[in-house]
Amino acid sequence: MTSSSTQSHASLVEFGQKHVTKGLGRVVEAVMQKGEGSYVTLGDGRKMLDFTSGIGVTNLGHCHPKVSKAAADQCMNIVHAQCSIGFHEPYLQLIQRLLPMMPHPSLDSFFFWNSGSEAVEGAIKMARAVTGRQNIINMQGAYHGRTFGAMAVTKSKTIYSEGVHPLMPGVFTVPYPFWHQLGVPSDTPSSKISEMCLNQLSLLLSQSTNPKDTAAIIIEPVLGEGGYVPAPKEFLQGLRDICDKHGILLIIDEVQSGYGRTGKTYAIEYSGVRPDILLTAKGLANGFPLSGVISRKEITDKLKPGSMGGTYAGNAVSCAAAVAAADVMKEENILENVNARSKELFSALNALRSDPKFAPAILDVRGQGLMVAIEFASPAGATPYDTFRNPSVPEKLASRVAKKCVEKGLLILTTSVYEVIRFIPPLNISQEDLAKGCKIFAEAVEEVVREG
Ligand SMILES: Cc1ncc(COP(=O)(O)O)c(C=O)c1O
Repeated sequence: MTSSSTQSHASLVEFGQKHVTKGLGRVVEAVMQKGEGSYVTLGDGRKMLDFTSGIGVTNLGHCHPKVSKAAADQCMNIVHAQCSIGFHEPYLQLIQRLLPMMPHPSLDSFFFWNSGSEAVEGAIKMARAVTGRQNIINMQGAYHGRTFGAMAVTKSKTIYSEGVHPLMPGVFTVPYPFWHQLGVPSDTPSSKISEMCLNQLSLLLSQSTNPKDTAAIIIEPVLGEGGYVPAPKEFLQGLRDICDKHGILLIIDEVQSGYGRTGKTYAIEYSGVRPDILLTAKGLANGFPLSGVISRKEITDKLKPGSMGGTYAGNAVSCAAAVAAADVMKEENILENVNARSKELFSALNALRSDPKFAPAILDVRGQGLMVAIEFASPAGATPYDTFRNPSVPEKLASRVAKKCVEKGLLILTTSVYEVIRFIPPLNISQEDLAKGCKIFAEAVEEVVREG
């Protein structure tokens, strides 16, 4: 194969379609050639506004100059300073940057890996090893990744594990506090929803997995793949109490919700709950592969040296990029921008929701910061028993609207088994670009609803 400059875009796409595994899905059948800030340029010349951030990763925009420069400089210094051979400076500098950003001062022991799934595997392994217990409790609707342990605690869609069972044993699932999944109206008080779910969890601990056999509870403080649902504060606090009572570890998976995405450095800060193990990834190195499993020294001191590790774990280039990203977060007041843009995004989506033309088709607008979703109604519902079926609305609204947005120059993603579109623009997106994306989205909704 010769360089892309000598091949037409169409022939490259055709080559990819033939030789890249069918196991991957794609939003656009195109080559992404250049990323700059909130935009991605495709090989056919289209310049797309990116409201996906590469699935919540390029949070400081594509190729942030400071982050890219830090990575390039590190490439000329040392690339592979293997973590089981010795320390490297960017690893330690990154811990120095992250320590004051932790949602609780007890989180003082770090292990860096590459992906979010690996971080989940690390957390499960750590929880089992240090408690001497086997079982893990997870949430219905959760997404934690595609490797075997992570897949076993993933309950957002069957596609991830279809045809490959049996998965890791010892997983027990309780409902996530999500009104739609529970079949209650979206305005049900969060205290009621929390009570229902904590009751189910308590029953699980007396009917299915004895606390003495239960190593950990794993939860996303904002359900990601399951539909962008922030867990109520009362629920997270209830989990903390149950964990404290029984010596169960609380694993907070902030792979998607973390690192400024929700308007706080970590979404768990909204509840004041202390994680025993915090998982972070995605935006951490703004596109370089890096994840973190962060816990208390008192817990990690129980691990045997050599039990954790990985050839590329905590790569020096990724860590150098992450140090720069942490600095940019501060220097550019990223959280301030998230909170300002969040208000504008909610106001644009709520305006659509209250417009009588669309009202019956829109079930909910929700989220935190710039992790926001709109849920459409569906004529068939997610199941035949779905209380929110609405035969008068068009079919497949979310995927049709998302497709229309792409045609109009906006990259955007759907999520969950429900009709949900998620908004995860860069955290430093400008007011102008956010407004432009919202306008494209509104036009797409209008056209799809009109088409019926
Ligand atoms: C909450 C959560 N956990 C874990 C993962 C898995 O991360 P990765 O795709 O990097 O393996 C994801 C990915 O989207 C995620 O959203």
